[in-house]
Amino acid sequence: MNDLAGKHFVLGLTGGIACYKAAELCRALIKEGATVQVVMTEAAERFITPVTMQALSGRPVYGSHDASGFDGREANGMPHINLSREADAILIAPCSADFMAKLLHGRADELLSLLCLARPIARVPLLLAPAMNREMWAHPATQRNMAQLAADSTTILGVGSGFQACGETGDGRMLEPPQLLQDVVAFFQPKLLAGKRVLITAGPTFEAMDPIRGITNHSSGKMGFAIARAAQEAGAVVTLVAGPVHLETPRGVERIDVKSARQMLEATLRHAPLSDVFVATAAVADWRPAAESEQKIKKDGTGQAPTVAFTENPDILLTVAQSERAQSGALFCVGFAAETNDLAAHAKAKRERKGIPLLVGNIGQLTFGLDDNQLLLVDKDGARELPRASKLVLARQLIAEIAQRTGATA
Ligand code: CTP
Repeated sequence: MNDLAGKHFVLGLTGGIACYKAAELCRALIKEGATVQVVMTEAAERFITPVTMQALSGRPVYGSHDASGFDGREANGMPHINLSREADAILIAPCSADFMAKLLHGRADELLSLLCLARPIARVPLLLAPAMNREMWAHPATQRNMAQLAADSTTILGVGSGFQACGETGDGRMLEPPQLLQDVVAFFQPKLLAGKRVLITAGPTFEAMDPIRGITNHSSGKMGFAIARAAQEAGAVVTLVAGPVHLETPRGVERIDVKSARQMLEATLRHAPLSDVFVATAAVADWRPAAESEQKIKKDGTGQAPTVAFTENPDILLTVAQSERAQSGALFCVGFAAETNDLAAHAKAKRERKGIPLLVGNIGQLTFGLDDNQLLLVDKDGARELPRASKLVLARQLIAEIAQRTGATA
């Protein structure tokens, strides 16, 4: 992916042990297509050398020797002006408690805080990835500073929780580079579903025969997880009801893990009344064993295989689509169809059978387990193809279609 192609960042490092993570973050930004200009405070240089950051960013670093903000190497001698105007965003990672306090007061006694103050505030966003000890993080002064910084058009990317370099455990760690990258990518996505609540089912279901065995299917959940990420990037509040899959939860998404279709139905029905959009991507098992043995079903020595009777599972999408909220148009329902052949005809028939405004068709063998896919969007007016692309790119296109059809605007 090249989600940051053409974007230029000033990556600012302030004093903190999390500086070691900034090296990986710098690489991650560049891998995603961005260019990066590193600026370090004197305190940051005690944790990681400018040479490391220069090698990773491919550009000479501005450091403590540029403290005055005036630099003979620049034609106009003013890096604080030049750097802040070139950037599409300034990202401070790690951002120490001290540096936050400095930003809050608009101090400008070294290059990094100076260029933050000099940035064109309406055009160049400032993003902070705080990193500090848990007591420092929880301190009213830090919390107060953050609230004020947010009110002053600064985006605070949050912190992680866990074991800290100081030996204590709690909130305040800098987010990991992949998490920061996801947040930065999300920051630049259009907020097409700002404030909307989106509910998504994803993955397979597992229908138990006994405590050891059951039936399931090959759904990887990747499409549903990509839609959850795209909806979150678009500013929605996202709940993801996931069958058994081995996928990381997208940043900022509430995930509810379930196994069976009935559990998935129950979790979905709990959230549907609060939702504006429902996207059913789950490959729900159509049938489940009629009885679940409490103990493992054993071979009885006769060579006779047990007979398994099946009973039909509830149709989650159909149940939600028939609810008053969906029927009134307050809940926009989107279904998926995985077919092996005659996609357009099956998808059209399925949309009508489910009574939903939008159905997304795909070919099972061309999507299961893969990172890319191609989709056919079917609504009352006809069908439109979304050509083969990564599932995340397709998910973003689908979110844009949903936003347009629900009248949500950025
Ligand atoms: N779905 C659901 N609950 C079920 C079955 C399906 O919510 N018990 C949803 C899926 O998440 C998907 C859509 O319905 O959005 C798929 O429709 P369905 O008719 O079940 O598809 P298939 O199982 O492929 O049906 P068929 O066997 O008729 O092709």
